[in-house]
Amino acid sequence: MWTLGINWKWHDGAAALVDGDGRLWALAEEERFTRVKHAWGAYPVRAARFCLDRAGIDWPDLDTVVIGWDLPQLLPWTDADRDELYVALFGRAAAGARKPALAFVDHHLAHAASAFHASGFTRAGVLVVDGAGERDAISVYAAGPGGLARKRHWPRAFSLGAMYEAATHVVGLGDLNAGKTMGLAAYGDGHDSALLPVGDLVGDGSPLFDWPADLSYGDFTGRWRDHLADRFGKVTRAPADLDQDPVAVRVAASAQRTTEEAIRALYTETRCLTGEPAICLAGGVALNCVANGRLPEPLYVPPFPHDAGVALGAAWTVRPPRPAAEPITPYLGTDIAPGDVPDLPESGFTVRPFAPEAVVDLLLAGRIGAVAEGRAEIGPRALGHRSIIALPRPAAVRDRINTIKGREPWRPLAPVADAGHAPRFWPGQGRRELYMVGSAVVSAAGRRELPAATHVDGTTRPQTVPTGHAPVVESLLAGLGSAGVAPVLVNTSFNGAAEPIVDTAADAVRTFVGLGLDFLVLADRLIRRR
Ligand SMILES: [Fe+2]
Repeated sequence: MWTLGINWKWHDGAAALVDGDGRLWALAEEERFTRVKHAWGAYPVRAARFCLDRAGIDWPDLDTVVIGWDLPQLLPWTDADRDELYVALFGRAAAGARKPALAFVDHHLAHAASAFHASGFTRAGVLVVDGAGERDAISVYAAGPGGLARKRHWPRAFSLGAMYEAATHVVGLGDLNAGKTMGLAAYGDGHDSALLPVGDLVGDGSPLFDWPADLSYGDFTGRWRDHLADRFGKVTRAPADLDQDPVAVRVAASAQRTTEEAIRALYTETRCLTGEPAICLAGGVALNCVANGRLPEPLYVPPFPHDAGVALGAAWTVRPPRPAAEPITPYLGTDIAPGDVPDLPESGFTVRPFAPEAVVDLLLAGRIGAVAEGRAEIGPRALGHRSIIALPRPAAVRDRINTIKGREPWRPLAPVADAGHAPRFWPGQGRRELYMVGSAVVSAAGRRELPAATHVDGTTRPQTVPTGHAPVVESLLAGLGSAGVAPVLVNTSFNGAAEPIVDTAADAVRTFVGLGLDFLVLADRLIRRR
């Protein structure tokens, strides 16, 4: 019994494969294969093929294909559309053959199922906050052994995702770049209170504006853009200089503060409605690590709160997994195995067996390099399997990495430490630290040791790596400790400007060469420029 879940139709196309017991075999985003970020509108063809290959099966072995959207609610849907989907996903042979069943799952239910079943909790309240599902922008579920039950929902007029996306457009950062706006918000002076109240979210449920409730998501975003431009004025600086644009900073800080206050209120509402102390968050707004960082334990945010996660949530809605004691591993994608070294595109490189001491020496000499090993991490954060690394000091390391990656110079970097040493650098963030989904205030010792990974407001978005999860990074942290140096590294995604994170060994080598990095640890090999 095999179920293939997919996210398809808009952005972040993805596929997930589970067996008859709901056991996850693979989860991957289409962008990693096509190398087009967010894979707008693309069928998750290569992600699906990857999942099937991982299990050694082919599409006729599937019992069900399930989509993390209730598409017939949104557009006319016939058997011909189903056939077109199957041919797109599996090729011409799928045209006349026996076909797997096709099912649809409510988008917010898919988000909620992905978070709950991945959390390791046996019971939880689940809060879903995104741009919009089929109709709703916010949903609360109670989750337990009997499944998920929806407790309350809010229509599109309350969309925090639409508000934040509009703010991102108004400051000039474009589509699906809310993470950049969150980084920009820290340049606010702290006095930007919630200038954008989104209405009485948890009271009688009246939105701030009396915009027609049946507006499309795009129309809501447009109304928000007009409102923000009227309220704050015009942004005049280019993206690289937005930290020096007082209007841009106020827009970002206000959108951020509004989101934090709304998430806090919705978190409390979720606890009240469900009676559960443990809370899961999902939906694109749950990528807001600053808002997440202000919530108490026990809290769980999966590494895939964005729409790619509904591929798995949809599959798990059809085939729920057995309860797990631990949160899910994020390392679910393409494997880079030992010995997997593609041809280098030019001479001038050396390839040797990886030895942690040699890389520690490079790091201590101020070199910036990358790690690519094992299965790729799901989601937008590099978690040590496809990461650019460096010592997080001096502060200028941030500028060098931002230049290398073509990022705006005001954007922050994140750190990784092992569980034994992390509490020296930042207060514990529980499960959030597994996937870099919660920010924390850097300690005094941390400010000395990781200035390049401490944002302008004194916070960071940390990862703590459990033993055995990222062997190369763990060996380097241990090596730094043995050398008498604080065992903490900058950990930022391994990709060039506006690219998805590298996936294969060939991607890693090409990007290593293209970015001019000093070294690449590729599974069990160390590649260096001569
Ligand atoms: Fe969503």
